[in-house]
Amino acid sequence: MKMKYQKPKGTADILPPYSNEWQFVEKNARETFALYNYDEIRTPIFESFEVFSRSAGDTSDIVTKEMYDFDDKGGRHIALRPEGTAGVVRAFVENKLYGPEHQKPVKVYYMGPMFRYERPQSGRLREFHQIGVEAFGSVSPKMDVETIAMAMDFLKKVKVTGLKLVINTLGDKESRDNYRQALIDYLEPHYDELSDDSKERLHKNPLRVLDSKDKNDQKFVADAPEILDYLTDNAREHFESVKNQLEALGIEYIVDSTMVRGLDYYNHTIFEIMVANSPLGKGEVTICAGGRYNGLVEELGGPEVPGVGFGLGVERLLLLLNEETQDMLQTKQLDFYVVGIGDAVQNETLKIVHELRQMGFATEQDYLDRKPKAQFKSADKLNAKFVVTVGESEMNDHVFKLKNMMTGDEQTIALKEIRTLKDLLK
Ligand code: HAM
Repeated sequence: MKMKYQKPKGTADILPPYSNEWQFVEKNARETFALYNYDEIRTPIFESFEVFSRSAGDTSDIVTKEMYDFDDKGGRHIALRPEGTAGVVRAFVENKLYGPEHQKPVKVYYMGPMFRYERPQSGRLREFHQIGVEAFGSVSPKMDVETIAMAMDFLKKVKVTGLKLVINTLGDKESRDNYRQALIDYLEPHYDELSDDSKERLHKNPLRVLDSKDKNDQKFVADAPEILDYLTDNAREHFESVKNQLEALGIEYIVDSTMVRGLDYYNHTIFEIMVANSPLGKGEVTICAGGRYNGLVEELGGPEVPGVGFGLGVERLLLLLNEETQDMLQTKQLDFYVVGIGDAVQNETLKIVHELRQMGFATEQDYLDRKPKAQFKSADKLNAKFVVTVGESEMNDHVFKLKNMMTGDEQTIALKEIRTLKDLLK
């Protein structure tokens, strides 16, 4: 018996016609980002392991537990990208996009597969797709707000409803250092009761403890000191401006001072866009998340250039598309189906099909030597607007028949007049 192969756990095949929904989402993202003057960037799907360990943080779950990494045949430690930001920052530094010939801020977007070894469930895959953006070179809160506004615009454009924007700040380095110490001081007396993960992270990165999934850890987290009480004046000002500007734009938000992110590179503004009562089964799901990362370019060997961006989970978004979105998806329609009657007309239909395609019409024909009746059936199934028919007599007279499938009108047209069809479908 032949082997039966199955896709790896946590991956998905994206088949037609479902792939239309992907194209719809991607098209709307490109259109939205163009309005904000973002350009596309494409970076490799695998990078040196260090690109991720240095940026996502070597205490993050993503780096310690979820990375698809391996030594390649040349002995290099490689990882499939678990997220988009690190690779884009690596490319930004390597290609010196911070140089004077590049207009600041440098604003880029990307879409593509990411890989995390997670436990698969609805909306959580091992190969998933992100649409992401990154903007480099501005410390202005305007940049944070623009990024958030753009994500909201895009989600509204594809008609996702029930959006909830949650923001927080992690402050600047000084705020973080002060807060870090306060957290250690608060958690240390409970050291013996913490989970193993949290014990390990307490001194390396106590903020990670706030994000612990462990029920017992969460009891301590509930009364932990809040970052908002440790902000420097600068950091507080930045956060206040972000909030003011969101209000000026009429974008509603909630501040959640306990929110931390799964990646270590953030500072100042962080945000998540969640959707309540989603069909994913859980109460709330995060479809888009991001924030500011002012030290990351330096961390990966570049100069001091600030950055801010977001990543949006495409699979999660697709689960949320509703009827209104479905209505916006164009049903696929063929312009022409060309029916040939009899073997003798093979070359004639071939030429007509070719000509119609050259003229820019989506055109289909029969490839299975089927009888005219079956060919007409196909034309119907494929939703063809017009059917061209050629039999031997038409061929001998240098004409073809043209039927308008909407009206049922049929006419005979001289082959040499085929170019006049270009006026049919405008
Ligand atoms: P993240 O929060 O790790 O951030 O991921 C962003 C989004 O990707 C999530 O909100 C979720 O919608 C989606 N996502 C993550 N993991 C999975 C998964 N296993 N299956 C399906 N969807 C998933 C980042 O990746 C940052 N790079 C975002 C960013 C860009 N920050 C600044 N710039």
